[in-house]
Amino acid sequence: MNYGYFDEFSKEYVINRPDTPAPWCNYLGSVDYGAIISNNATGYSFVKSGASGRIIRFRFNSSSNDQPGRYIYIRDNSDGDFWSGSWQPVCKPLDKYKSECRHGTAYTQLSSKYRNLETKTLYFVPLNESHEIWQFKIKNTGNAQKSLSVYGMVEFTNHDHYENDTVNLQYSQFISKTYFKGDHILQVINENGSEASSDVDGHCDVMGDPSCRFFGVAGQTVSAFDGERDAFIGNYRNYGNPIAVETGKCSNTPAYNCNSFGALQIDITLKPGEEKEMLFVLGSGNEAVAKNVLEKYRDKVSNKVNATAGKQFEALKKLWHARLNNLQVNTPDDNLDNMVNVWNAYQCFITFLWSRAASFQYCGLRNGLGYRDTVQDIQGIIHLDDRLARERLLLMLSAQVSNGGGLPLVKFDHKAGEVSTPDESEYAKATGQSYYRADDALWLFPTIITYIKESGDWSFIDEVIPYADKGEATVYNHLRQAIRFNLDRQGNHGFPAGLFADWNDCLRLGPKGESMFVAFQLYYALAIFKEFAVKKSLNEDAAWADSHLNRLSAQFEQFAWQQDQYVRGFTEDGYTMGAKENAEANIWLNPQTWSVISGAAEGDKAKAVLNSVYSKLNTKYGARLFYPPFKKYGMPVARMVLFNEGTKENAGIFSQPQGWLILAETIVGNGNRAYEYFTEINPASMNDNAEIRKLEPYVHGQATESIDTLNHGRSHVHWLTGTASTVMVSLVNGILGLQPQYEGISINPCIPSKWEAFSMNKIFRGKMLNIKVENVEGVEKGVKYIVVNGKKSDGCYISCEELSEVNDILVVMGKQKP
Ligand code: GLC
Repeated sequence: MNYGYFDEFSKEYVINRPDTPAPWCNYLGSVDYGAIISNNATGYSFVKSGASGRIIRFRFNSSSNDQPGRYIYIRDNSDGDFWSGSWQPVCKPLDKYKSECRHGTAYTQLSSKYRNLETKTLYFVPLNESHEIWQFKIKNTGNAQKSLSVYGMVEFTNHDHYENDTVNLQYSQFISKTYFKGDHILQVINENGSEASSDVDGHCDVMGDPSCRFFGVAGQTVSAFDGERDAFIGNYRNYGNPIAVETGKCSNTPAYNCNSFGALQIDITLKPGEEKEMLFVLGSGNEAVAKNVLEKYRDKVSNKVNATAGKQFEALKKLWHARLNNLQVNTPDDNLDNMVNVWNAYQCFITFLWSRAASFQYCGLRNGLGYRDTVQDIQGIIHLDDRLARERLLLMLSAQVSNGGGLPLVKFDHKAGEVSTPDESEYAKATGQSYYRADDALWLFPTIITYIKESGDWSFIDEVIPYADKGEATVYNHLRQAIRFNLDRQGNHGFPAGLFADWNDCLRLGPKGESMFVAFQLYYALAIFKEFAVKKSLNEDAAWADSHLNRLSAQFEQFAWQQDQYVRGFTEDGYTMGAKENAEANIWLNPQTWSVISGAAEGDKAKAVLNSVYSKLNTKYGARLFYPPFKKYGMPVARMVLFNEGTKENAGIFSQPQGWLILAETIVGNGNRAYEYFTEINPASMNDNAEIRKLEPYVHGQATESIDTLNHGRSHVHWLTGTASTVMVSLVNGILGLQPQYEGISINPCIPSKWEAFSMNKIFRGKMLNIKVENVEGVEKGVKYIVVNGKKSDGCYISCEELSEVNDILVVMGKQKP
């Protein structure tokens, strides 16, 4: 069953059935003012932090349709019938009420048709602003004049901090008030707090400072208001039947010691064919800010909505589309194109911006950046915005401890050089984390090399950057320290220790247990470091890296290799995890894929491990993390035993590793299989089975339930997942074969053999590459020759010198001469 479709031209996903299997969401705004909105206008907004800057309420997990959100009600005053601009919360019968939701790049437009009235509400946050706009238009398409009341509403939080607002009611209910100010409702928290330290942006009342929010309207006159929630909703009612809307009259009640609210009633008449517009504005700030903001949106003479919001919207769309247009592809598979061109790319920016902070599952309490998550997230946007990637990379390098490890959590107000480390009690107190993860800083290697090769910014390697705690070093030496961190922490076989966890949060191998995932990551890191050392002509460094590469290779062979697979690790008490003879979890996905990605397994070995994965771990919705699930073996090392079998880290189809699997298959040249895996997990290819997957068909989720569950194919935890970046990389670098080099770019696709041709438009170092790929021989990988602006050469490499501003490139795939 489907609930919508991709409008690739507009870069939108269009939902034409509002009763989706889950709230299907979108993100608005920036890190200064963020918002999340579903196809039914549910969701919340926050200033800087989902946890400590929350301005409107959202009840997580409250029922199957989480509420409330940004609702607009419409009441026909001729008979009192009422509905909403989004299908929820009034939920009129779908045979009479038609709706459409268009989720775009940082905006969402909801339309409704009911009783010869059409509404359109465009939700967005203007660039560089700390407020959101709901541009509401209503049109009478019938023959009779209509007398209507329109109600816009928000449920404010009583405290900036989500937890305080939700649970500390004996406190938070008594610090908030609302006032009606003509064109807006002003909420003031801590009105009698210290003005001296008050912040006009109204953010954060932890110190007892006053904190203000406003909900106003421009373009129409307010006829009544409710500043208190229960006055608007009424007792023993809900958002589906608020008393104010049912009776047609807000009661002009402000809030004092209860739940602050913003409801504005606007009475209008519409002649046949007539359309009226009003702009609801929600933001953070005091009365002066509110007045200024609202004035900006109305014409001084006519008092109607002026052109400002329209221009802001165009600027927003332009910015996003320009970002995405840095790579556009046209392949035989629309579902792949939709992901590369719009949705996977957009999701990468969202994970980059919000990390794991705010969604319908994450309520924002993780108030900082996870090291590994963030360094991985950067990889997903490098091909579209290397400048943004560079900024974040600098931050993450400055969050590396001088011993080489990464800070498990990088606070949003991170101050390099002054931070305590997991070795000190202050850090544990502030973040709840008193340990290192084994993998954190190792993610820097693939991210940094990808950044340098995409941007050509080789000088980055010599940039001097402070450590989190003390001292500073060049990027090159930061990387050396990262390697040392793992070399200094080894287990009994000479592999890196698993420490508190590796990529797998549930695997606690400790200071003497060993992780093969980290071992392969270390191998990869050494290979990249060696490449840098060679380029810098630092022969001793290259030899040092080489000796460890050789040592690790021998150890892989001796201790970790079993006929056609690698084991997952060794526990402190000598148990081999992921060994063939184990009753549970006897083959794991990540060590196989990472043996190939790292270059440790090549040729037949690489093919063998990937064949093992295909035959033992694949399902129709992606590959399992391992098999069989844990039931008996478990605590304290394998904490995933606590998850139901076939779920998340306990042999579920964890989504992030699927990207590594696709990438590994492209490395060995299995284009058909890489594409098969991609199709299994591509959200877009589940569009017509949306009732099975449940999550938005345009975004990756964290995990999909496996065959051991009751709901094979159902996905969970939308939007904020490292899957966005791993799958993006596997598409761009692996399947499409766009592989920037220091002084040029290789184009070496690995595709399904049935693809006869495809094209790509990529901006590379400011130059436009118009690439056509031909595959008449039906191969999966292999480039016979390449023609750049009419000049033919063997192989798949193009040097920067060959490039003009705009370039016509033909890549001819086929069997290579023996
Ligand atoms: C979650 C975490 C990520 C971790 C993964 C596997 O997605 O955000 O950091 O690597 O789970 O445990």
